[in-house]
Amino acid sequence: WFDEIPSIATDSTLAAMEACKADTHEKKVDLSPGIYHDDNSSTWVLPSVKKAREVLLADKSLNHNLQPQNGHPGLVSVARELTFSDTLDGRSIASMQAISGTGANHLVARFLSDVLQPKTVWFSNPTWENHREIWRHVNPAINQRNYPYYDDRTSTIDSQGMLSTLRGHASRGDVIILQACAHNPTGVDPSRELWEAIAAVCEEKGLFPVFDSAYQGFATGNIDNDAWAIRHFATRSNGTMEFAVAQSFSKNFGLYGERVGALHIVTRSNESAAKAEAKLKKIQRAEITSTPSFGAKIVATIVQNPALREQWQQDLQTMSGRLQDMRKRLYDELTKRNTPGNWSHLLTDIGMFSMTGLSPKRVAVLRNNFHVYLLPTSRLAVPCLTTGNVEYVAESIHQVLTV
Ligand code: LMR
Repeated sequence: WFDEIPSIATDSTLAAMEACKADTHEKKVDLSPGIYHDDNSSTWVLPSVKKAREVLLADKSLNHNLQPQNGHPGLVSVARELTFSDTLDGRSIASMQAISGTGANHLVARFLSDVLQPKTVWFSNPTWENHREIWRHVNPAINQRNYPYYDDRTSTIDSQGMLSTLRGHASRGDVIILQACAHNPTGVDPSRELWEAIAAVCEEKGLFPVFDSAYQGFATGNIDNDAWAIRHFATRSNGTMEFAVAQSFSKNFGLYGERVGALHIVTRSNESAAKAEAKLKKIQRAEITSTPSFGAKIVATIVQNPALREQWQQDLQTMSGRLQDMRKRLYDELTKRNTPGNWSHLLTDIGMFSMTGLSPKRVAVLRNNFHVYLLPTSRLAVPCLTTGNVEYVAESIHQVLTV
């Protein structure tokens, strides 16, 4: 029955992680996944999460019931607050808990494919590889197009290319995927002026923006600054823009395997919001019935408890601070060796990732000869650098670029 199944290439992030796991070399370094590690290369359990777990486990009424159809009420409420603060006053919104960022992106793709029926979905070039896969999976008939984003000659955003492509080629009702902050994979975010221009193009052309918000707290270490673009869209034109936010708590709470996220659809009327919510519930029922509850309870407990929330802010600072340190260490090690290339963007890039600019061939040499794993696009995950491996990584990159 299954002989005709075509061979299918694995997602490159998961493939790199698996290959590195199987590699027995003692100096191997996996710089492929966007997963925060501490300086001992262990996945970090945030102190705020440890405390919230204790609070939850001490509660004798903790049970394992199904959740309400739109998810854990506390989680949905804090997800909204962290994303929009008070910018939604008077707006009508449908919010649902989702299975982390992947689930939220999937849910919005399914929803928009059914109700908006876009001809085209636009992605930044490059983008998180799963964006394309999710939309292909949901509806292969929707065209996928790129808007210019990263100029690899200058390691900056190609603002003109981006705006002129959208102005010239996007059509009314198309969907545009935007990343709220700490862009994956480039580590380069639009300025506030550029965000204003992007919002204006979306309005002029009648595009439907979907924000992927997976790294709130990682760009600046500050939740409010990192939500600036979303809140700008929420308040623009007297609060009349309609858009969606797919939100993940995997990274900013370190809850990767718990699959905690949310989807928000910002609409123009209570009636539209109610209809959107009914549609989302229908999809969730067919696909998963209920979202997972323990991770959702952890996030809600932390954000609703002032002391735990304060601890969480410190945890975010710890994570973004270590990323900054590692960026600086890698930059120092490369410039000390006069490694060919311009590395100064390592210091100004934002969040978990940077593009090293290595060709796919050199990425392969780095992997095969030095056991250092990047993505084929040359993306390097900064949270996987440690004081123990950064010199080896820099020396390996140096060798690959000079030998
Ligand atoms: C990444 O890009 O490495 C992360 O978002 C993890 C993933 O699911 O791909």
